[in-house]
Amino acid sequence: MSTAALFSPTRLGAIEVRNRIAMAPLTRSRADMDGVQTPLAVDYYGQRASAGLIITEATNISRQGRGYAYTPGLYTDAHVAAWKPVTDAVHAAGGRIVVQLWHVGRMSHTSLQEEGAAPVAPSAIQAGGHVFTEAGYVPPSMPRALATEEIAGIVDDYRQAARRAKDAGFDGVEVHAANGYLLEQFLRDSTNHRDDRYGGSVENRARLLLEVTAAVAEVWGADRVGLRLSPLSTAIGDTPLDSRTMETHLYVARRLGELGLAYLHVVEGQLHAGNGADDFDVKALRDAFGGAYLANNGYDRQRALDATAGGHADMIAFGKPFIGNPDLVERLRTDTPLFDAPTAGYFGGGAEGYTQFTAPQANVA
Ligand SMILES: Cc1cc2nc3c(=O)[nH]c(=O)nc-3n(C[C@H](O)[C@H](O)[C@H](O)COP(=O)(O)O)c2cc1C
Repeated sequence: MSTAALFSPTRLGAIEVRNRIAMAPLTRSRADMDGVQTPLAVDYYGQRASAGLIITEATNISRQGRGYAYTPGLYTDAHVAAWKPVTDAVHAAGGRIVVQLWHVGRMSHTSLQEEGAAPVAPSAIQAGGHVFTEAGYVPPSMPRALATEEIAGIVDDYRQAARRAKDAGFDGVEVHAANGYLLEQFLRDSTNHRDDRYGGSVENRARLLLEVTAAVAEVWGADRVGLRLSPLSTAIGDTPLDSRTMETHLYVARRLGELGLAYLHVVEGQLHAGNGADDFDVKALRDAFGGAYLANNGYDRQRALDATAGGHADMIAFGKPFIGNPDLVERLRTDTPLFDAPTAGYFGGGAEGYTQFTAPQANVA
Protein backbone atom coordinates (compact mmCIF):
# COMPACT_ATOMS: atom_id res chain seq x y z
CA MET A 1 0.00 0.00 0.00
CA SER A 2 1.28 3.42 -0.93
CA THR A 3 2.32 5.74 1.86
CA ALA A 4 2.13 8.80 -0.37
CA ALA A 5 0.50 11.83 1.24
CA LEU A 6 -2.42 11.49 -1.20
CA PHE A 7 -3.48 8.25 0.47
CA SER A 8 -2.92 9.32 4.06
CA PRO A 9 -5.63 10.50 6.43
CA THR A 10 -6.10 14.09 7.50
CA ARG A 11 -8.63 16.37 9.07
CA LEU A 12 -10.65 19.24 7.63
CA GLY A 13 -11.73 21.16 10.70
CA ALA A 14 -13.76 18.56 12.62
CA ILE A 15 -14.16 16.24 9.62
CA GLU A 16 -11.70 13.34 9.64
CA VAL A 17 -10.98 11.93 6.19
CA ARG A 18 -9.16 8.71 5.38
CA ASN A 19 -7.34 9.97 2.30
CA ARG A 20 -6.75 13.24 0.46
CA ILE A 21 -8.98 12.41 -2.49
CA ALA A 22 -12.30 14.25 -2.53
CA MET A 23 -15.13 13.67 -4.95
CA ALA A 24 -15.88 17.08 -6.44
CA PRO A 25 -19.50 18.24 -6.62
CA LEU A 26 -21.10 16.84 -9.78
CA THR A 27 -24.60 17.73 -10.91
CA ARG A 28 -26.09 14.59 -12.46
CA SER A 29 -29.74 15.65 -12.86
CA ARG A 30 -31.34 12.41 -11.79
CA ALA A 31 -33.63 13.60 -8.99
CA ASP A 32 -37.34 13.92 -9.74
CA MET A 33 -38.89 17.20 -10.89
CA ASP A 34 -39.51 18.17 -7.25
CA GLY A 35 -35.84 17.70 -6.43
CA VAL A 36 -36.32 14.45 -4.52
CA GLN A 37 -33.45 12.00 -4.90
CA THR A 38 -34.31 8.47 -5.99
CA PRO A 39 -32.77 5.21 -4.70
CA LEU A 40 -30.34 5.39 -7.62
CA ALA A 41 -28.53 8.19 -5.80
CA VAL A 42 -28.06 5.88 -2.82
CA ASP A 43 -26.21 3.40 -5.04
CA TYR A 44 -24.27 6.14 -6.82
CA TYR A 45 -22.89 7.81 -3.72
CA GLY A 46 -22.43 4.51 -1.89
CA GLN A 47 -20.28 3.23 -4.76
CA ARG A 48 -17.97 6.23 -4.35
CA ALA A 49 -17.64 6.14 -0.55
CA SER A 50 -13.94 5.26 -0.60
CA ALA A 51 -13.26 8.93 -1.40
CA GLY A 52 -11.87 10.70 1.64
CA LEU A 53 -14.71 13.16 1.29
CA ILE A 54 -17.73 13.25 -1.02
CA ILE A 55 -19.04 16.69 -1.83
CA THR A 56 -22.52 16.15 -3.21
CA GLU A 57 -23.86 17.61 -6.39
CA ALA A 58 -25.07 21.18 -5.94
CA THR A 59 -28.33 21.06 -3.99
CA ASN A 60 -31.01 23.76 -4.12
CA ILE A 61 -31.71 25.61 -0.88
CA SER A 62 -35.07 26.85 -2.13
CA ARG A 63 -37.43 26.67 -5.04
CA GLN A 64 -36.18 30.12 -6.07
CA GLY A 65 -32.61 28.82 -6.03
CA ARG A 66 -33.27 26.24 -8.77
CA GLY A 67 -31.80 26.69 -12.20
CA TYR A 68 -31.72 23.21 -13.65
CA ALA A 69 -34.39 20.53 -13.92
CA TYR A 70 -33.98 17.29 -11.97
CA THR A 71 -31.44 18.72 -9.52
CA PRO A 72 -31.95 17.78 -5.88
CA GLY A 73 -33.21 20.08 -3.13
CA LEU A 74 -32.91 20.38 0.61
CA TYR A 75 -35.93 22.49 1.49
CA THR A 76 -38.73 19.97 2.13
CA ASP A 77 -39.15 16.98 4.42
CA ALA A 78 -39.30 14.74 1.34
CA HIS A 79 -35.85 16.00 0.34
CA VAL A 80 -34.46 15.13 3.76
CA ALA A 81 -36.05 11.67 3.72
CA ALA A 82 -34.53 10.94 0.31
CA TRP A 83 -31.04 12.14 1.27
CA LYS A 84 -30.91 10.16 4.53
CA PRO A 85 -30.32 6.73 2.91
CA VAL A 86 -27.57 8.35 0.83
CA THR A 87 -25.64 9.54 3.88
CA ASP A 88 -26.33 6.20 5.61
CA ALA A 89 -24.86 4.28 2.67
CA VAL A 90 -21.74 6.44 2.61
CA HIS A 91 -21.26 6.14 6.36
CA ALA A 92 -21.83 2.38 6.29
CA ALA A 93 -18.92 2.18 3.86
CA GLY A 94 -16.73 4.33 6.11
CA GLY A 95 -16.95 7.50 4.02
CA ARG A 96 -17.71 11.14 4.75
CA ILE A 97 -20.17 13.31 2.86
CA VAL A 98 -21.00 17.02 2.87
CA VAL A 99 -23.77 18.64 0.85
CA GLN A 100 -23.11 21.55 -1.48
CA LEU A 101 -25.65 24.30 -0.82
CA TRP A 102 -26.77 26.10 -3.97
CA HIS A 103 -28.72 29.12 -5.10
CA VAL A 104 -28.25 29.73 -8.81
CA GLY A 105 -29.32 33.39 -8.83
CA ARG A 106 -29.62 34.54 -12.43
CA MET A 107 -28.70 31.13 -13.89
CA SER A 108 -32.31 30.05 -14.09
CA HIS A 109 -35.37 30.13 -16.28
CA THR A 110 -38.90 31.30 -15.62
CA SER A 111 -40.19 27.76 -16.31
CA LEU A 112 -38.26 26.50 -13.27
CA GLN A 113 -39.55 29.23 -10.96
CA GLU A 114 -42.75 29.38 -8.98
CA GLU A 115 -45.55 30.80 -11.15
CA GLY A 116 -43.08 31.60 -13.90
CA ALA A 117 -41.36 34.30 -11.87
CA ALA A 118 -38.15 35.93 -13.06
CA PRO A 119 -34.96 34.53 -11.50
CA VAL A 120 -33.29 36.80 -8.93
CA ALA A 121 -29.82 38.36 -9.04
CA PRO A 122 -27.80 41.18 -7.51
CA SER A 123 -28.54 43.25 -10.62
CA ALA A 124 -30.81 42.85 -13.64
CA ILE A 125 -28.08 41.61 -15.97
CA GLN A 126 -28.86 38.56 -18.06
CA ALA A 127 -26.44 35.62 -17.99
CA GLY A 128 -25.06 33.96 -21.08
CA GLY A 129 -24.78 30.22 -21.58
CA HIS A 130 -27.71 27.93 -20.97
CA VAL A 131 -29.67 26.21 -18.26
CA PHE A 132 -31.41 22.85 -18.40
CA THR A 133 -35.22 22.81 -18.28
CA GLU A 134 -37.75 20.06 -18.80
CA ALA A 135 -37.86 21.25 -22.41
CA GLY A 136 -34.10 20.99 -22.83
CA TYR A 137 -31.32 23.58 -22.86
CA VAL A 138 -32.44 27.23 -23.01
CA PRO A 139 -30.77 30.60 -22.37
CA PRO A 140 -31.20 31.88 -18.79
CA SER A 141 -34.11 34.31 -18.37
CA MET A 142 -33.67 38.01 -17.65
CA PRO A 143 -33.36 38.24 -13.84
CA ARG A 144 -34.72 40.92 -11.55
CA ALA A 145 -32.53 42.64 -8.96
CA LEU A 146 -33.23 41.58 -5.38
CA ALA A 147 -34.58 44.29 -3.08
CA THR A 148 -32.33 44.88 -0.06
CA GLU A 149 -35.05 43.71 2.31
CA GLU A 150 -35.39 40.36 0.50
CA ILE A 151 -31.81 39.32 1.17
CA ALA A 152 -32.29 38.28 4.80
CA GLY A 153 -34.84 35.76 3.52
CA ILE A 154 -32.23 34.17 1.29
CA VAL A 155 -29.77 33.93 4.19
CA ASP A 156 -32.55 32.26 6.12
CA ASP A 157 -33.14 29.76 3.30
CA TYR A 158 -29.47 28.76 3.59
CA ARG A 159 -29.85 28.45 7.36
CA GLN A 160 -32.92 26.21 7.00
CA ALA A 161 -31.17 24.05 4.40
CA ALA A 162 -28.18 23.70 6.74
CA ARG A 163 -30.56 22.48 9.47
CA ARG A 164 -32.12 20.00 7.08
CA ALA A 165 -28.63 18.83 6.13
CA LYS A 166 -28.18 17.87 9.79
CA ASP A 167 -31.46 15.97 9.79
CA ALA A 168 -30.36 14.18 6.62
CA GLY A 169 -27.21 12.91 8.34
CA PHE A 170 -24.50 14.81 6.44
CA ASP A 171 -21.07 15.41 7.99
CA GLY A 172 -21.17 19.09 7.11
CA VAL A 173 -21.97 21.50 4.30
CA GLU A 174 -20.11 23.23 1.51
CA VAL A 175 -21.28 26.72 0.57
CA HIS A 176 -21.30 26.97 -3.22
CA ALA A 177 -19.78 30.38 -3.90
CA ALA A 178 -18.30 29.41 -7.27
CA ASN A 179 -19.14 28.93 -10.94
CA GLY A 180 -21.23 31.99 -11.64
CA TYR A 181 -24.08 31.33 -9.19
CA LEU A 182 -25.74 33.71 -6.74
CA LEU A 183 -22.95 34.23 -4.20
CA GLU A 184 -20.34 34.71 -6.91
CA GLN A 185 -22.70 37.03 -8.78
CA PHE A 186 -22.77 39.23 -5.67
CA LEU A 187 -19.00 39.01 -5.21
CA ARG A 188 -17.94 40.08 -8.73
CA ASP A 189 -18.23 43.70 -9.74
CA SER A 190 -19.08 42.51 -13.26
CA THR A 191 -22.44 41.13 -12.14
CA ASN A 192 -23.09 43.28 -9.08
CA HIS A 193 -23.96 46.91 -9.86
CA ARG A 194 -25.87 47.55 -6.64
CA ASP A 195 -25.63 50.73 -4.61
CA ASP A 196 -26.89 49.39 -1.28
CA ARG A 197 -24.81 47.67 1.40
CA TYR A 198 -24.53 44.56 -0.79
CA GLY A 199 -22.84 46.39 -3.66
CA GLY A 200 -19.92 48.72 -4.39
CA SER A 201 -16.92 48.03 -2.15
CA VAL A 202 -15.45 44.53 -1.82
CA GLU A 203 -16.71 44.46 1.78
CA ASN A 204 -20.22 45.07 0.51
CA ARG A 205 -20.02 42.60 -2.39
CA ALA A 206 -18.70 39.89 -0.06
CA ARG A 207 -21.37 40.61 2.54
CA LEU A 208 -23.95 38.08 1.34
CA LEU A 209 -21.38 35.29 1.00
CA LEU A 210 -20.14 36.01 4.53
CA GLU A 211 -23.62 36.34 6.02
CA VAL A 212 -24.61 33.01 4.48
CA THR A 213 -21.44 31.33 5.71
CA ALA A 214 -21.88 32.70 9.22
CA ALA A 215 -25.51 31.52 9.25
CA VAL A 216 -24.69 27.95 8.27
CA ALA A 217 -21.68 27.94 10.60
CA GLU A 218 -24.04 28.81 13.45
CA VAL A 219 -25.99 25.66 12.65
CA TRP A 220 -23.04 23.32 12.12
CA GLY A 221 -20.05 24.90 13.83
CA ALA A 222 -17.60 26.54 11.44
CA ASP A 223 -15.35 23.48 11.56
CA ARG A 224 -17.93 21.50 9.57
CA VAL A 225 -18.44 24.15 6.89
CA GLY A 226 -16.38 24.46 3.71
CA LEU A 227 -16.72 26.95 0.88
CA ARG A 228 -16.00 26.74 -2.83
CA LEU A 229 -14.63 29.62 -4.94
CA SER A 230 -13.71 29.88 -8.64
CA PRO A 231 -11.80 33.17 -8.93
CA LEU A 232 -10.72 32.70 -12.55
CA SER A 233 -13.66 30.93 -14.14
CA THR A 234 -16.09 32.57 -16.53
CA ALA A 235 -17.41 29.27 -17.89
CA ILE A 236 -20.91 29.19 -16.45
CA GLY A 237 -23.17 32.02 -17.50
CA ASP A 238 -20.32 33.54 -19.45
CA THR A 239 -19.70 35.54 -16.28
CA PRO A 240 -16.95 38.16 -16.60
CA LEU A 241 -14.25 38.14 -13.92
CA ASP A 242 -14.12 40.60 -11.07
CA SER A 243 -11.96 43.57 -12.03
CA ARG A 244 -9.62 42.96 -9.06
CA THR A 245 -9.68 39.20 -8.83
CA MET A 246 -6.79 38.67 -6.46
CA GLU A 247 -7.62 41.50 -4.08
CA THR A 248 -11.29 40.50 -3.88
CA HIS A 249 -10.55 36.86 -3.20
CA LEU A 250 -7.81 37.61 -0.68
CA TYR A 251 -10.33 39.61 1.30
CA VAL A 252 -12.85 36.76 1.19
CA ALA A 253 -10.24 34.15 2.13
CA ARG A 254 -9.07 36.22 5.10
CA ARG A 255 -12.59 36.69 6.39
CA LEU A 256 -13.39 32.98 5.96
CA GLY A 257 -10.22 32.13 7.87
CA GLU A 258 -11.37 34.36 10.72
CA LEU A 259 -14.59 32.36 10.85
CA GLY A 260 -12.50 29.18 11.22
CA LEU A 261 -14.03 27.22 8.34
CA ALA A 262 -13.19 23.54 7.84
CA TYR A 263 -11.76 24.13 4.39
CA LEU A 264 -11.48 26.38 1.38
CA HIS A 265 -12.11 24.66 -1.97
CA VAL A 266 -10.86 26.37 -5.11
CA VAL A 267 -11.54 25.65 -8.78
CA GLU A 268 -8.11 26.66 -10.02
CA GLY A 269 -8.24 28.46 -13.35
CA GLN A 270 -10.99 28.31 -15.92
CA LEU A 271 -13.49 25.50 -15.28
CA HIS A 272 -12.89 22.59 -17.64
CA ALA A 273 -9.99 24.38 -19.32
CA GLY A 274 -7.28 22.63 -17.42
CA ASN A 275 -5.47 23.50 -14.28
CA GLY A 276 -4.64 27.16 -13.79
CA ALA A 277 -2.80 26.94 -10.50
CA ASP A 278 0.16 28.68 -12.06
CA ASP A 279 -1.85 31.73 -13.20
CA PHE A 280 -3.04 32.78 -9.80
CA ASP A 281 -1.28 33.24 -6.49
CA VAL A 282 -2.95 30.28 -4.81
CA LYS A 283 -0.38 30.33 -2.03
CA ALA A 284 -1.36 33.88 -1.09
CA LEU A 285 -5.00 32.78 -1.00
CA ARG A 286 -4.17 29.77 1.17
CA ASP A 287 -2.09 31.88 3.50
CA ALA A 288 -4.88 34.45 3.80
CA PHE A 289 -7.30 31.67 4.71
CA GLY A 290 -4.95 29.74 6.96
CA GLY A 291 -6.94 26.48 7.10
CA ALA A 292 -7.21 23.33 4.99
CA TYR A 293 -7.09 23.84 1.23
CA LEU A 294 -8.83 21.64 -1.39
CA ALA A 295 -7.60 22.06 -4.95
CA ASN A 296 -9.62 21.16 -8.04
CA ASN A 297 -9.67 21.37 -11.81
CA GLY A 298 -7.95 19.03 -14.19
CA TYR A 299 -5.86 17.12 -11.67
CA ASP A 300 -4.53 13.74 -12.71
CA ARG A 301 -2.71 11.18 -10.58
CA GLN A 302 0.75 12.69 -10.87
CA ARG A 303 -0.36 16.26 -10.24
CA ALA A 304 -2.36 15.11 -7.24
CA LEU A 305 0.59 13.19 -5.81
CA ASP A 306 2.85 16.21 -6.32
CA ALA A 307 0.36 18.75 -4.98
CA THR A 308 -0.27 16.84 -1.76
CA ALA A 309 3.37 15.84 -1.23
CA GLY A 310 4.65 19.33 -2.00
CA GLY A 311 2.24 21.18 0.25
CA HIS A 312 0.26 22.88 -2.51
CA ALA A 313 -2.98 21.36 -1.22
CA ASP A 314 -4.29 19.32 1.70
CA MET A 315 -6.71 17.49 -0.54
CA ILE A 316 -7.48 17.17 -4.25
CA ALA A 317 -11.04 17.13 -5.55
CA PHE A 318 -11.58 15.02 -8.67
CA GLY A 319 -14.71 15.62 -10.74
CA LYS A 320 -15.01 13.88 -14.11
CA PRO A 321 -12.74 10.97 -13.09
CA PHE A 322 -15.27 9.98 -10.41
CA ILE A 323 -18.10 9.71 -12.95
CA GLY A 324 -16.74 6.58 -14.61
CA ASN A 325 -14.51 5.33 -11.79
CA PRO A 326 -16.39 4.80 -8.54
CA ASP A 327 -13.23 3.05 -7.30
CA LEU A 328 -11.06 6.02 -8.20
CA VAL A 329 -9.08 5.90 -4.95
CA GLU A 330 -8.03 2.30 -5.59
CA ARG A 331 -7.22 3.03 -9.23
CA LEU A 332 -5.02 5.96 -8.21
CA ARG A 333 -3.36 3.87 -5.52
CA THR A 334 -2.54 1.06 -7.93
CA ASP A 335 -1.98 3.33 -10.94
CA THR A 336 -4.72 1.55 -12.92
CA PRO A 337 -5.95 3.27 -16.11
CA LEU A 338 -9.14 5.28 -15.73
CA PHE A 339 -12.39 4.77 -17.61
CA ASP A 340 -13.43 7.89 -19.50
CA ALA A 341 -17.21 7.95 -19.06
CA PRO A 342 -19.24 9.06 -22.08
CA THR A 343 -20.42 12.65 -21.64
CA ALA A 344 -23.90 11.71 -22.89
CA GLY A 345 -24.56 10.23 -19.44
CA TYR A 346 -23.39 13.25 -17.45
CA PHE A 347 -26.77 14.98 -17.08
CA GLY A 348 -30.11 13.23 -16.79
CA GLY A 349 -31.26 9.73 -17.58
CA GLY A 350 -31.26 6.63 -15.43
CA ALA A 351 -28.73 4.11 -14.17
CA GLU A 352 -26.78 3.89 -17.41
CA GLY A 353 -23.83 6.27 -17.28
CA TYR A 354 -24.55 6.88 -13.59
CA THR A 355 -24.31 3.70 -11.53
CA GLN A 356 -23.61 1.32 -14.38
CA PHE A 357 -21.69 1.41 -17.63
CA THR A 358 -22.78 -1.27 -20.04
CA ALA A 359 -22.01 0.73 -23.17
CA PRO A 360 -18.88 -0.40 -24.97
CA GLN A 361 -15.89 0.27 -22.77
CA ALA A 362 -13.54 0.63 -25.68
CA ASN A 363 -12.35 4.00 -24.49
CA VAL A 364 -10.48 2.63 -21.49
CA ALA A 365 -7.24 4.58 -21.79
C1 LIG B 1 -21.14 16.70 -15.00
C2 LIG B 1 -20.56 17.80 -14.16
C3 LIG B 1 -21.34 18.38 -13.17
C4 LIG B 1 -20.80 19.36 -12.33
N1 LIG B 1 -21.55 19.87 -11.30
C5 LIG B 1 -21.02 20.72 -10.40
C6 LIG B 1 -21.75 21.13 -9.25
O1 LIG B 1 -22.88 20.69 -9.01
N2 LIG B 1 -21.15 22.00 -8.41
C7 LIG B 1 -19.89 22.50 -8.63
O2 LIG B 1 -19.40 23.29 -7.83
N3 LIG B 1 -19.17 22.11 -9.70
C8 LIG B 1 -19.70 21.22 -10.57
N4 LIG B 1 -18.94 20.76 -11.63
C9 LIG B 1 -17.52 21.12 -11.71
C10 LIG B 1 -16.68 20.05 -11.03
O3 LIG B 1 -16.90 20.01 -9.62
C11 LIG B 1 -15.16 20.30 -11.25
O4 LIG B 1 -14.87 21.59 -10.78
C12 LIG B 1 -14.77 20.17 -12.70
O5 LIG B 1 -15.29 18.98 -13.30
C13 LIG B 1 -13.24 20.19 -12.86
O6 LIG B 1 -12.68 19.09 -12.15
P1 LIG B 1 -12.15 17.78 -12.92
O7 LIG B 1 -11.15 18.29 -13.93
O8 LIG B 1 -11.54 16.90 -11.89
O9 LIG B 1 -13.34 17.19 -13.61
C14 LIG B 1 -19.47 19.81 -12.51
C15 LIG B 1 -18.70 19.23 -13.54
C16 LIG B 1 -19.22 18.24 -14.35
C17 LIG B 1 -18.36 17.60 -15.40
